[in-house]
Amino acid sequence: MIKKVAILANGGDVSGFNAVIRAIVKTAQNNNIECLGFIDGYRGLLNNDYVVLETSSNCNASGILPKGGSIIGSSTNANVFNYPVEENGERVYKDLSEICVENIKKDKIDCLFTLGGDGTQKSARDFSLRGVNVIGVPKTIDNDVACTDITFGYNTAVSVATEAIDRLHTTGETHHRIMILEVMGRYAGWIALESAIAGGADVALIPEIPYDIEKAAQKIMERRKQGKDFSIVVVAEGAKAKGGELVVKDTRNNGIGVDNTKLGGVGEQVAKQLEKLTGLEARCTVLGYMQRGGIPTSFDRVLSTKYGAKAMELALEGKFNVLTVIKDGKLNSVPLEEVVGNNTKIGAVSGNTPESNLRKVSMEDDLVKTARNIGINLGD
Ligand code: F6P
Repeated sequence: MIKKVAILANGGDVSGFNAVIRAIVKTAQNNNIECLGFIDGYRGLLNNDYVVLETSSNCNASGILPKGGSIIGSSTNANVFNYPVEENGERVYKDLSEICVENIKKDKIDCLFTLGGDGTQKSARDFSLRGVNVIGVPKTIDNDVACTDITFGYNTAVSVATEAIDRLHTTGETHHRIMILEVMGRYAGWIALESAIAGGADVALIPEIPYDIEKAAQKIMERRKQGKDFSIVVVAEGAKAKGGELVVKDTRNNGIGVDNTKLGGVGEQVAKQLEKLTGLEARCTVLGYMQRGGIPTSFDRVLSTKYGAKAMELALEGKFNVLTVIKDGKLNSVPLEEVVGNNTKIGAVSGNTPESNLRKVSMEDDLVKTARNIGINLGD
């Protein structure tokens, strides 16, 4: 019999975080279970910093379904198995997970819900090996968590990107320009590809297909021949030219931790090259954090609610150390061990290694086939 559970939200925020929190708390309350929320993800667990979550009127988890962000915060770069600490004026990385395990025991938490992407679920798996009951919920706008067809937050990001493409369409058409939209997604091209289809773009450049800029230019020139003197190009931030490198704008998290590159700038590069090759004017828009903020779509509200309620249901059944997933359209769960894949070593995880087990766009995916069938150029 479980009596008390806790939630933590980790990694970059998405629309839908609060909807998941609300669904867990509601399902918990309906079963007389107390629910805590750790503040700022794993950092809150480390510092034992939490609030009691309640959905009764005027309580902290009431009225949050459409609210963007996370009412309990979220932290990036908080890998407690490889945590940066200052020692004798130097930064060293330490495994502080034991402190977290002690906090969980002290607070008598029967199950910890970890809302996050691949790094978060890797830590969740590592906690399960330390004897903690965990249940993961797959979050990220990048849609790159292994073993699930969709993560919460992704649909909202695609929807924001699609609206941006619609808006670029009219200004591009008016001024006979090539309009480039750079979208997020890190090492996966899901947002770029799906929004390109939804927005009727002409070219989509994704990390999974290193691009030949001449091919994209050819597509634009073909359109010109047909009397279409504007074009829309969607570029994923992680796209790179054939034989080229990822375009990095900066470091993030002050260069601390693994995977601390801030991607960005490939859209501007593509714009310059296309101008040269086509003789047309090109303009680049970087969509950025608009994709993560604000109200979730109805799809994400429902998906997040399904995920949250399912997570609590699994806890009630005593089915721990799993991730809630959607597989073939059905709500389900898979062992965290499968999600982690080859990345079984406890500690650091980088998002761009074969071990990280990211779910990237496969060339067999319906989105790729559909894009090709309707003539969206994928830079190859
Ligand atoms: O993983 C989500 C994401 O928004 C990526 O698409 C993007 O590359 C990254 O986070 C940005 O990270 P930060 O919030 O650290 O700038």
